[in-house]
Amino acid sequence: MSTIVQARPVERAEKPSLPKADSCVLVIFGATGDLTKRKLMPALYDLACAGCMRAQFEIVGIGRTELSDEQFRTRMKEATANSKESRNFHEACWNDLERRLSYLSGDANERDFYLRLKARLQEMHASGSSPNTIFYVSTPASLAAPIVEGLGESGLAHSDSGWARIVLEKPFGHDLASARELNEIVSTVFDEKDVFRIDHYLGKETVQNILMFRFGNSMFEPVWNRNYIDYVEITAAETLGVESRAAFYEETGALRDMVANHMLQLLALTAMEPPVAFDADSVREQKVQVFRSIRAMDLEDVKSRTVRGQYGSGTIGATAAPGYREEPGVDPHSNTETYAALELYINNWRWAGVPFYVRAGKRLATKLTEIAVHFKRTPQALFASTPDEHVEPNVIAMNIQPNEGISISFGAKRPGLQMRAAPVTMDFSYAKTFGTEVTLAYETLLLDAMRGDATLFTRRDEVEAEWRIITPIEDAWAQLPPPPFPNYAAGSDGPADAEILAAENGHHWRTLAQVNAAG
Ligand code: BG6
Repeated sequence: MSTIVQARPVERAEKPSLPKADSCVLVIFGATGDLTKRKLMPALYDLACAGCMRAQFEIVGIGRTELSDEQFRTRMKEATANSKESRNFHEACWNDLERRLSYLSGDANERDFYLRLKARLQEMHASGSSPNTIFYVSTPASLAAPIVEGLGESGLAHSDSGWARIVLEKPFGHDLASARELNEIVSTVFDEKDVFRIDHYLGKETVQNILMFRFGNSMFEPVWNRNYIDYVEITAAETLGVESRAAFYEETGALRDMVANHMLQLLALTAMEPPVAFDADSVREQKVQVFRSIRAMDLEDVKSRTVRGQYGSGTIGATAAPGYREEPGVDPHSNTETYAALELYINNWRWAGVPFYVRAGKRLATKLTEIAVHFKRTPQALFASTPDEHVEPNVIAMNIQPNEGISISFGAKRPGLQMRAAPVTMDFSYAKTFGTEVTLAYETLLLDAMRGDATLFTRRDEVEAEWRIITPIEDAWAQLPPPPFPNYAAGSDGPADAEILAAENGHHWRTLAQVNAAG
């Protein structure tokens, strides 16, 4: 049992006015796809409503489906109005954005298409549109290279009168070799400063707050190391299954989909050294150092320090959920993992010997992304406790979502004549302190890309360093016989083997139900 101590709310902060994007034409490849509907258009709408766009801002949607400008606008309006992401839908705001939308259909694999795109952009520039262009690649991964090459060959990747940038969605390759190959192609066409590789976790307010918490306060940094920290747990639990993405997910799995990017980014921000400045290269330099220090796994390590899982049927809340192999579009004998847990070590001065347990999975008990930093026990147990109540080591838990905030648990004296300890939690909640309006990740990232600020995007060497950690694990899993899938029930905390992984070191994962209650 623990008592909750609410952190004293500070004065309610006025939302500072957002900076303005540079004037530009945003060309979206994959404009009829899911991401454009669910994330990009609602984020662009919110930015436009907040007054972040210049008068010279237009969007050209690209897709294979034949659509008129009118049909495209109607689809985008529906998607934005029905979006759970964008704040409030106002007809007047939408109308202002809608007139800036147009559509061009074509096959991004065909060279002719780029000539048509070039003609369209030239026409727009001639009638007063911005000479700056930003190409957003939100297509299946196989199209990324042809699009970059097409832009290069048609001369669209450079502009004499403005700039040209490219935003690339994940997955960025599927292993180290393919990521290197794609990076090579990109680097022959665009300068690295004009390349924005998206990892949407970096756009989340609470992910950025990890840096503020660590480097904006002096009290945590002195204890943020192996002398005081026992282990670190990083969790990304989802209740969702594969939804309509079976074809993609069958090829990808949890390790590539979540760990190779989002989870490693969370780990890097938790573990990195202070950057010399808060700018793109200083921050990314320190993250790369963390990735380079992660101890590579050989086959034996993979056997003993990784766990993969796949969900079977179960219930989440009160709702029955089918097993992964029963989901539409999934091979009934599939051995794709929907859960991955790793025990990683960072071989550097600060972290030597401290395990970083990382787990990500679909169809788990609750939706939760959290970093829990577990401190060492006091050297001596001085105070009396009851079997139900005893002082556990301190934990700093950074809740990335959905209850954004930070909690610190510690022991306090229970009122009374005896010197008895009780565990309490001190909570900072974003919603209670600042109100509920957390800026959406895609708003932050789109605005940064349009302003040319790459701090929250992954650099070429960073992506390759991430794959250097993940590829040996993928290769070993391909060699080893898969576990008896399914090995966890939908709605549970994941496979039992993950518990064993931590328990072998005398550690334990916070149970998802426990974390939920704390949130
Ligand atoms: C995406 C993955 O990158 O992140 C999805 O491809 C996953 O499978 C999603 O569901 C999770 O993002 P969030 O922001 O909901 O935690």
